[in-house]
Formats: sequence, C-alpha cells, structure tokens
Amino acid sequence: SGKKPLAGKRVLITAGGTVERLDPVRYITNDSSGKMGFALAEAARDQGADVTLVCARTDGPPPAGVRIVKAESAEEMRAAVLARLPEADAVVKAAAVADYRPSVRHGSKMKKGPDRLTLELERTPDILQAIGDWKREAEASGAARSPLPFVVGFAAETDDVERNALDKLARKRCDLIVANDVSREGAGFGADTNIVSVYGAEGLIEALPLQSKRAVAERLWKLVRERAGWEEPG
Ligand code: PMT
Repeated sequence: SGKKPLAGKRVLITAGGTVERLDPVRYITNDSSGKMGFALAEAARDQGADVTLVCARTDGPPPAGVRIVKAESAEEMRAAVLARLPEADAVVKAAAVADYRPSVRHGSKMKKGPDRLTLELERTPDILQAIGDWKREAEASGAARSPLPFVVGFAAETDDVERNALDKLARKRCDLIVANDVSREGAGFGADTNIVSVYGAEGLIEALPLQSKRAVAERLWKLVRERAGWEEPG
C-alpha cells in the first residue's frame, strides 16, 4: 500500500543545546547545533509521523512541517518533554542537555568585582532518567495506556563508548542508546555527518559508518519501527 511507514505515530524529539543562565545576558551552553535532532524530525515527518520537536538553542531554524516547542534550559526541556510524554509513541533525545547550571541565577546583570570569581554550579534534572522513572511508575500502577512510549537516548562519549552506553541504557531504562564518539572527525557536535553505534539491552545492534545525519536518522527510524513492533524486521 502507499501508507507511509510512520503514519499515525506521534513522535517527540529533542534538539540543540540547553542554555543555563547566570544573569540576563550570560549563560553556559554547549556546541550542539541541533542538526541531529532536525534530521530525525525531517525523516519522521517525511515518513508520515506527527512530529513534536522540543528545541533548545540551535544553529539555524528548525524544519518546517513539525510542531515546535521552545525550551531554553534543562528545566524547561524537562517540563516540555514530561508534559507531552503521555501522548507520544516514541521519544528520541538528541539534545545535548547541560549536566550543570549556575546555582544562583541573578535577576540583573552581574557587576564587575574582585580579580577572581568562583562560579558555583549545581546538577540539572536528568530528563532521560525522569522518563525512565515515569515509565516504571506507569507500569507499576497499571493506569497508563499500553504500550508505553519507545525511548531512544543519545550518548556523547569520548572513551569507553560501549560500556558507558550500556550503563546509560540500563540506568535510564531506554529501549535504544545511540552512542556517538564525539572525538572522531565527522561525528557529533556541529557536523553534517555522524558516526554512531546503536545499542539495545542485548548489546551492540549496529555500527553506522560516517554518513549524513539524515541517513543516520532514516536508519534509526527503521530500527525504532522494528523494535517497537510497528513493522516486521527486514
Ligand atoms: O546537535 P548536533 O550539533 O547535531 O550534535 C548532535 C549531538 C552530538 C548533540 C547528539 O548526537 C548527541 O549525542 N546528543 C546527546 C548529547 C548528550 O547530552 O549526551 P550525554 O551522554 O551527556 O547524555 C545522554 C542522554 O541523556 C542524552 O539523550 C541526553 O539528552 C540525556 N540527558 C542528559 C543530561 C540531562 N540532564 N538530561 C538528559 O535527559
């Protein structure tokens, strides 16, 4: 039939780097451009999905034809994601969420002071962990719809990629983890291409060599469709 492979599916994707403010004009962020999340959103859109893209800071505008939700900080992204989780069939977390934020956010621009200034940081909420906890509670209470959303996490690693990815998968109860070795040329932050290894609970599923982020996205949606039971493997 001419039915598109993700027709009728609602997918929630995060993209970009979160911005953690110190004062109204200063902040901490990272090098995420949003390209990986945008590629995932475009591929899902073209496969017929209803796409919600939660965007932090990105280089350039998000794709057309998808629902955009702005979320500047890790805290805002957590709220945006958790609010939409009950309606999602799949969640893909390509955003680079800050692990720390300034523990004090000043209401007005900080004044110049002594020669040295120590900045105190505190942990941000772990969104992927919150999704895992939500799934566990939903299962335990028996109140949630079935099946629960299929969850794909990303992992930006520089060493011990496999061990860290499997550890993240287990701790955060994801269905898949996409590990990018961000120390390799053509992979990770800012690039138009990526090099990733996809892990499931059983270990490495697939190692994707250097290719466009769009091609990586197409392959990931294929794996999601098969593993979520939306289509037969093939
Ligand atoms: O945006 P691009 O320039 O295209 O670059 C793409 C990318 C390198 C940002 C992307 O492919 C990627 O790897 N994203 C995840 C980066 C990251 O934050 O990795 P992590 O290992 O720190 O986090 C693991 C997972 O936990 C991620 O899915 C992240 O969204 C999530 N997380 C992390 C911290 C936190 N407080 N909450 C989270 O949910």
